[in-house]
Amino acid sequence: MSKLKIGVIGAGSISEAHLGAYVKNDKVELYAICDLNEQRAKDKAEKYGAKKVYVDYNDLMNDPEVDAVSICTWNNTHAEIATAAVNSGKHVLVEKPMTTSVEKALKLEEAVKNSGKKLQVGFVRRYASNTQVLKKFIDNDELGEIYFTKATCIRRLGNPGGWFSDVERSGGGPLIDIGVHVIDVLWYLMGRPKVKSISGNTYNKLGNRKNIKNLAFYQAADYDPEKNTVEDMANALIRFENGASMLVDVSFTLHAKKDEIAVKLYGTKGGAEVEPELAIISEKHDTILNMTPQVNSLTFDFIDGFQNEVDHFVDVCLGEKETFSPVQDGVEMTKILCGIYESAQKGKEIYFD
Ligand SMILES: NC(=O)c1ccc[n+]([C@@H]2O[C@H](COP(=O)([O-])OP(=O)(O)OC[C@H]3O[C@@H](n4cnc5c(N)ncnc54)[C@H](O)[C@@H]3O)[C@@H](O)[C@H]2O)c1
Repeated sequence: MSKLKIGVIGAGSISEAHLGAYVKNDKVELYAICDLNEQRAKDKAEKYGAKKVYVDYNDLMNDPEVDAVSICTWNNTHAEIATAAVNSGKHVLVEKPMTTSVEKALKLEEAVKNSGKKLQVGFVRRYASNTQVLKKFIDNDELGEIYFTKATCIRRLGNPGGWFSDVERSGGGPLIDIGVHVIDVLWYLMGRPKVKSISGNTYNKLGNRKNIKNLAFYQAADYDPEKNTVEDMANALIRFENGASMLVDVSFTLHAKKDEIAVKLYGTKGGAEVEPELAIISEKHDTILNMTPQVNSLTFDFIDGFQNEVDHFVDVCLGEKETFSPVQDGVEMTKILCGIYESAQKGKEIYFD
């Protein structure tokens, strides 16, 4: 059987997770790497054994050998590159966030539909084993009606600088960069209810705190602290049409004692935590139970999550599976993220029809 030929566009930090997973999948030939920075693309091609190197993604699109692409570039380029890919007959795995505006999201959805090609959004936490374990419990109604969820992702010091902090290229700060993961995984586990209204706040009070010494933090491949046009903290209350609500708080920096991640769901029959550690809470015979599933990893396992995501995408391209994270979900998540920014900017709750 001939192998699925993959091109990876954007050869920065996260491409490592995609490349590492593709080379472990024996249905795949890792074929091409593309980056604006030619040396970066060449180095990755050498490291992972890809035949071709491109600087302009349009040249990769014109290469008929490529069956599917991973898009690991700046957020503002995702929709344009994904549209070019499906229009050139290639399947797409696009990193989160799918794009930076609802208008671009809807246009991409249309392009995907017209092309008949598959698009999977890189909502990697949906593919993590702790999420999938809990999903089985939820699908079997162990939590009952889920009516409240909490999405927290607090970095006390962690503005990555570079394009992440340039709103033109990123579309926003911690909300669109790290908040998207915790909001999306909850929305997925809640059964993807339709959003009704959003009340959000964003703050730019502390800046990127490049003055801080003696404490290491995550920095982009092209770290540059000079430009910072994104929020450093966001919070929101999201209401859904089924009456459920989600509370969100995320930051690149905050005077918090420590970093914090929390992904929590509360239902009529039970509750659950996906992060910081998988746990299921229930009540039986008038007694409250905290249950700990006996699994390899109770928390998000980065390598395993990306391997599952990429393996699933490969099977989707081969027509063996349906994606867990289709373009329509990318559109809904874009509505939520952009809705939080819009509400914050207007200083009032916004409603969806
Ligand atoms: N799923 C996750 O957990 C996760 C984690 C980190 C980043 N990401 C996402 O992955 C994407 C990339 O992030 P990163 O951390 O790797 O950033 P990065 O800065 O390390 O790498 C981005 C690369 O894309 C290249 N690039 C930008 N525009 C391009 C274009 N038009 N054509 C070709 N190359 C282009 C840049 O030169 C750079 O090498 C972002 O969308 C980010 O949100 C996802």
